[in-house]
Amino acid sequence: MTTTKANLTEFEQKLVDKAVEAMERAYCKYSNFKVGAALVCEDGEIIIGANHENASYGATICAERSAMTAALTKGHRKFKLLAIATELESPCSPCGICRQFLIEFGDYKVLLGSSTSDQIIETSTYGLLPYAFTPKSLDDHEKETEERTHQK
Ligand code: THU
Repeated sequence: MTTTKANLTEFEQKLVDKAVEAMERAYCKYSNFKVGAALVCEDGEIIIGANHENASYGATICAERSAMTAALTKGHRKFKLLAIATELESPCSPCGICRQFLIEFGDYKVLLGSSTSDQIIETSTYGLLPYAFTPKSLDDHEKETEERTHQK
C-alpha cells in the first residue's frame, strides 16, 4: 500500500528516519546509490544496516542483508518490522536476493521510505515475495516423505 510518512505511527516514522540515517554508513563508491535499513527485533532492539560494495561488484552486500546478518550475529531470530530507505523519491523495493533472505525469518512488516520525499510503501516480507520458498517448504517435504514411507 502506498501512503505518506504522516500516516505512520510515531515509532514507524522514527524507524524510517533511522533507515535514512543508516544510509550514511553505506560504502557505495561504485554505484553512489546509498541504501539504509533499520530492523526491529522481537525484543525491541533496533539494528541498522547499509550497502557495502566491493571492487568485485558481485561481492556487494545490500543494506537489508547487512542489517539482518548484524542482528543474527547478535543472536536475534525473530523480527517485527524493517524500514528501508534510498534517495529515490518513489520508494525503492528490495532486490530478489534480499526478499528471499528476509522471508527466511517469517512474515513481518516492511516500510519502504525515502530520504528525499515523504512517500512510503507499506508491505510485508510475504507481500514482497508471494509463494516464497521458506523453511516450511523443507519441513513439509520431510514430513510428506516420512508419511509416504509409512504408507508403503
Ligand atoms: N542495494 C541494496 O542495498 N538493497 C537492495 O535491495 C537493492 C540494491 C544496493 C546494492 C548496491 O550497493 C546498490 O544498491 C546498487 O545496486
